[in-house]
This record gives sequence, structure tokens and C-alpha cells, in this order.
Amino acid sequence: MNIDDLIAQMTLTEKIGQLNLVNPGGQTLTGSVANSDVHRKLVDGQVGMMFGTASLESRCEIQSISVNQTRLGIPMLFACDVIHGYRTALPLPIALSCTWNLAMIERAAHLSATEARADGIDLTFGPMADLTRDPRWGRVAEGNGESATLSSWITAAVIRGYQGDGETSQPSDIDRMLACVKHFAGYGAVDGGREYASVNLGPIELHESHLPPFEAATCAKVAAVMPGFHALDRIPVTAHRDLLIGVLRERWNFEGAVISDYTAINELEHHGLGDLSSAAVAAINAGVDVDMVGESYITTLEQSVASGRVDVARIDAACRSVLKLKRDAGLFDDPFRALDPERAKQVLGCDAHRNEARQMAAASCVLLKNKSETLPIGKECRRIALIGPLADDRSNLPGTWSVSAIAEECVSLADGLRSTVCDQTKVVVARGCNLVDDPVQAERLNVFGTTVTLDSRDAQAMIDEAVAVARDSDVVVLALGEAKEHAGECSSRTDLQLPPPQRLLIDAVADLGVPIVLLVFAGRPLVLTGIADRVNAMLYAWYGGSMAGPGIADVLTGSHVPEGKLTMSLPRSVGQIPVHHDALPTGRPLPPDCEFMKFKSCYLDEQNDPLYPFGFGLSYTTFAYRSLSARTDSGRVIVSVEVKNEGQRRGVEIVQCYQLPGVCSVSQPLLSLKSFERVQLEPGETRLVEFVIDKQTASSLEGTSLTNVSRGFIPGLFRFAVGPNSQDLQHVQIDWR
Ligand code: IFM
Repeated sequence: MNIDDLIAQMTLTEKIGQLNLVNPGGQTLTGSVANSDVHRKLVDGQVGMMFGTASLESRCEIQSISVNQTRLGIPMLFACDVIHGYRTALPLPIALSCTWNLAMIERAAHLSATEARADGIDLTFGPMADLTRDPRWGRVAEGNGESATLSSWITAAVIRGYQGDGETSQPSDIDRMLACVKHFAGYGAVDGGREYASVNLGPIELHESHLPPFEAATCAKVAAVMPGFHALDRIPVTAHRDLLIGVLRERWNFEGAVISDYTAINELEHHGLGDLSSAAVAAINAGVDVDMVGESYITTLEQSVASGRVDVARIDAACRSVLKLKRDAGLFDDPFRALDPERAKQVLGCDAHRNEARQMAAASCVLLKNKSETLPIGKECRRIALIGPLADDRSNLPGTWSVSAIAEECVSLADGLRSTVCDQTKVVVARGCNLVDDPVQAERLNVFGTTVTLDSRDAQAMIDEAVAVARDSDVVVLALGEAKEHAGECSSRTDLQLPPPQRLLIDAVADLGVPIVLLVFAGRPLVLTGIADRVNAMLYAWYGGSMAGPGIADVLTGSHVPEGKLTMSLPRSVGQIPVHHDALPTGRPLPPDCEFMKFKSCYLDEQNDPLYPFGFGLSYTTFAYRSLSARTDSGRVIVSVEVKNEGQRRGVEIVQCYQLPGVCSVSQPLLSLKSFERVQLEPGETRLVEFVIDKQTASSLEGTSLTNVSRGFIPGLFRFAVGPNSQDLQHVQIDWR
């Protein structure tokens, strides 16, 4: 298919039609409006892409109309928010990031693409590459955590998983799809963590922390980019020429499509850019090719071309970018190839995918505390009290942004545990409390179906029942946390503690003296201060998807030794936020081991460090670090350390290498993750781990504006730190000139 030949045959209306991405409202709505009169627009060539379509059957029908009833027969491209799995829900992206396992993360994206494509989906609105340092923001669930470097590696892995590597596998393959990285750029830093708020970042911080994952996406040849809803340093990104043209197209040579967020062009009116026609002109001239749902392009652009406010060459370029998506998805070769109900039956939710999902759910768990080896639960355990509103729940397990998962196909923790423990162990379940007790909150959380039910029993009666179940047990497993929709889009929170009824339940059960394992289900870091002291073991399970129940059970019973490490710090309190490992220095640092000192940078009423730091996570075995050293070799630095498994079980350790600031005119983060390695060690085994740091990796940023920032290597003394997390570090320095 020669795209330019096709464009030459198209009318202006048809070209603008290709820029129109509609949602007919057949599926879960991910915005507040849907498009109307879609059939007529389709036949008139006024629709280029669709998402939110009801079913594979409806996609087949729509494709027939596009190919057979429109003047030029241009195929339809179907999109969807495939964020973590499809029919088989996989752990949330924040959860998967805690595996630090790039191969597994790539495989998760590949699996998601395989299922989505089998259901006729050609493009996903993902991955979300926004750097997430504010857990009040509900969308941290979709991110890869607080480190720009780790998030960059993960973003590239996810894009390879979705689209293929471009050599042996392509987006046109039947088990791949196109990716659209979002929300360009800086959206993770919305003021106060409040959804749709503005972002105030200077150019250096933007380049250092927020742009790298997006640059990594463009290097991985991501097909599309979605600007966010926000204004960045006062400029709405949907109309931000320096960002969308200066950085994305000119600096990074991005050649794909720019797709607006849901009605984001219309929302430029609220940002003060004038009427809809002016908003559309601003967006298209700033480089936004596709208008999602708002129909500002099909209703105003012809007029703007006529009046000279938009050049027809710009419309051609935007149209070309959409047609290239269709070509790259293989739609011109065979528009019906991915619309095969037989293949869908075989692939969606198949056993092989569910088995992988189980392993991913287990690998995503982070063990935060394990006093006196409370975990794993041994074969000698006769009775487990499984207590909490999430103990026997399936509806929350898919986690937010699971538009295609089916709750009934999820395996609850109760079922997962019963099928995993040995025959002699009894699992007794009690609800203990409601997830939240405020009906207004419950209603807000039930916007995508009922996942929060309010048990009509008296709160004390539920606690009494739980206490009775716990009293005669060998161990209590408390399944607590957030509801599925506590995280996700428009799920910002100001209080990150466990909801009040859950805290009362912990107090009541903790008084019994039976060992307690707290399982935290969440889409974000919660504030667990005070609670961590009341339990013997604590496992952060996030939302693990369709097979979360068996996956968590594997960890609890020890068939999977925990290996996950936090990719976002867990704050001590909301007032500390943002708290992250790569903070910038202050001229008045608090001395080590000091909680407060007048005229130093600290709080009167809170420590500076988080409750659990970035990179933290325990195993059922222990690792020792020794012989840290650094040397130069062929213009690079090699940092090496010996890691020994000192325990009785085989385990995986994630060895982390950070760089500390050197001499530079621009303030550098106190710690920057430069490399990591996952090593699996047998009991007693020692491994030499080497990190190769080149000059580009060790360089620092200099600059003055968004389009004038560069990296440079400044020879001198370099300091590195290595350890099991961002707090327990050994240091080494080297003269590198
Ligand atoms: O992809 C999403 C985006 O992340 C937020 N607004 C809606 C889009 C489409 O569902």
C-alpha cells in the first residue's frame, strides 16, 4: 500500500475523518461522554479509529462497513486500554515493576497483546511512562514507580512486548499490537496528586526525571504518543509545540502518531485557549494528529484550512501518521485477520496464560516484614484464619483498568490458599469488616460495577466473628487494603491509611497474640505507619490480576520465595509526600541518624525518610554484600561486589547500583539508580556482580530551557553505592579523568 497515493485520492473531509478517534460507548466508558451517530459518520468516512467497541462481533461488523461501504475502503483501526493483561488480568504495572524482571515484564506485555489482538484490538493506549512519586495520585497504579532509569528500562521492555522487537517480530504479527505511550509529559507530577491538575516542573527536572521513559519509548519505536490532560509550566500539553514538535519530533525524531487524550482538545477551552475552533487549531498545529472523542477536528478543521489557520500539508501529515499505523498493524494486507472468533476462543484466558499470570502475581509481591520467620506458613500449620474483606473476593482482583477481565474468572485468595496448602491444613474464612464503611465512598468506588459491598451486619459482630475464628488458629492472614477503584484514573486520595474499619479489625485481632500476616492489596503505596508494628509479617500484594489468589498462596506457603522490591517508597505519612530516593540535596542536610535539628531540612513532627525505601524487599533467605570495589577499564568504570546467599533456601536478590552527586553546576539527585542485577543464588553460593558504568550513564545534565538541555561527562571524583535497597548501601569512590 502506497500511503501517499492513497492520500492523493482523499478529499479533505476524508483526511480529517482519519484523524477522528471515536468511542461509540459499547464498553466500559473511560471518559464522561461517548460519540453519537457513529454509523453514519463511519459510512461517510468521518471515523479513522475506534475504541470502546462492545465486542469482537461488533468489531467485525464495523470492519465490514469500513472496507465495503466507504468510498475508499480504508480499514478501521481498533484501540483499547490494554494496561495489564486483557481477559487474563495480570498484576498492575506498579506491581509488575516490583519484579525488576524485564524479561517477565516484556512477556506480560506480549501476553496482553496476544489476547487483545485475538479479540480484534490493534493498538493499546499504553504503557503509561509517567514518573510516579506521589502516591496520592491514583494513576501510580499504572506506572513503573519513582526511578526514571528503571521506568525507562521497563517502558522499553513493555513496548517490545506489545509491538515486537522490530526484527524477529512486528506489530503486524497476529500476537502483537501497536503501543501508544502516555501521558506526555510530566503528568505524574500533578499538583497535590489531584487528577487533571496542573504540573509545575522546570526544564532540567523535566529532562532529568520525567522525559527519559518517553525518550526510551521513542528509541523502542513506539507507534504513538498521547499528551496528557495537564498544563506543563502553564502551557497545556495538548497545544505544546516545544514539547510535541521541539522535543518529540525534532530532538527525538519520533515518526509515529500523536493521539490526544479523551476530549483533551475540547478541554483546551477550559485552559483558556479560546473556542473549539481555536483549540483544534492550536492542537493540530502543535502536532496532535488524532482527536480522541471530542470531534473538534471533524467539526472545525475544514473551516480552519479554508481560512488559512491550518495548512493542508499539516492535515496530510497527520493523516499519513494514521494511515501508517494501519499499515504497520497489517490492516491494509488483511483487515479481518485479527477478527477471528475461533482464534479468540482458543487464546482469551487460556490455561497457559493463567499459569503465567499466577507466576507473575507471585513475583510481584514484596515482603516488607517477616519477624521470626512467620512466613512461609509451614506444613505443620493446622489452621489458618483468613480474615478480611478481600479474603474471599474476586471482583477487586483484576485491579483498575481491566476493561476486558471477568471477575468470575479470577481466583480468590481463599480458593487459591485452599488449593495450595496441604491436606491437613484448614483454611477458615471470616470477613471481619467492610472494606469501607461509608456508603458515599462505596458508591464512588462502585462506578465500574460493584466491587465494594456493605455487609449489613453490625461492625462489632463482624469483628467478634473474626476474633473467634482467629483465636483457635496457628496463624492469621489478614487480607486488607484498597478497593480496585481506589486507584486508577480520577482516584486521587488525601488519606492513604487503611480505611477505618480495617484498622479496628487489626487492633482487635492483634490483641490475641496469634501470629499475624498482613497482606496489603493496593494500587499505590499506602501509609502503614503504626500497623507494621502490630503484625508479625507483611506482604504487599498489590492487585495481582486473575490469578492473584494462587500466586499469593504460593508466596505464603513458600513454593515461591519472595523476590520483589519496592519501586515506590512507602511514606510514613501523607505530609511527607513526595518522598523518594532520588531527592535533590539541600544546603542544610540533617546529620545522619538525627530526626530533628533546628535550622536543618526536616519536619518538627515526622522523620525525613520513608517507612520502607525504594528498592526494599525481603526474601525467605538472607544475602550478604562484601568486597565492594571500583576500577576503570577502557573508559568505563566497573563497580563490583560479592553477594552471598547466607540462608537455607534458594533465592533471588536484586542487587542495586546507585551514583551519588559529583561536582556540577546543576544540583544532582542524592542517589540515582544506574544499574541493577537479579541474581539467583543457591544456599551458601557467592556471586561476583559487576556493573559497567559508561560515561554517558555517569554524565549529568546542564541546561536552561526545554529545548536547550544536554548531558555532559565531567571528569573528577565519582561516588557509587551498592546494596539491597536505596538505604542499606555500601559506598565506593573512584577518580575518573
Ligand atoms: O488512555 C486513557 C487515558 O490514559 C486517560 N483518559 C482516557 C484514555 C482512553 O481510555
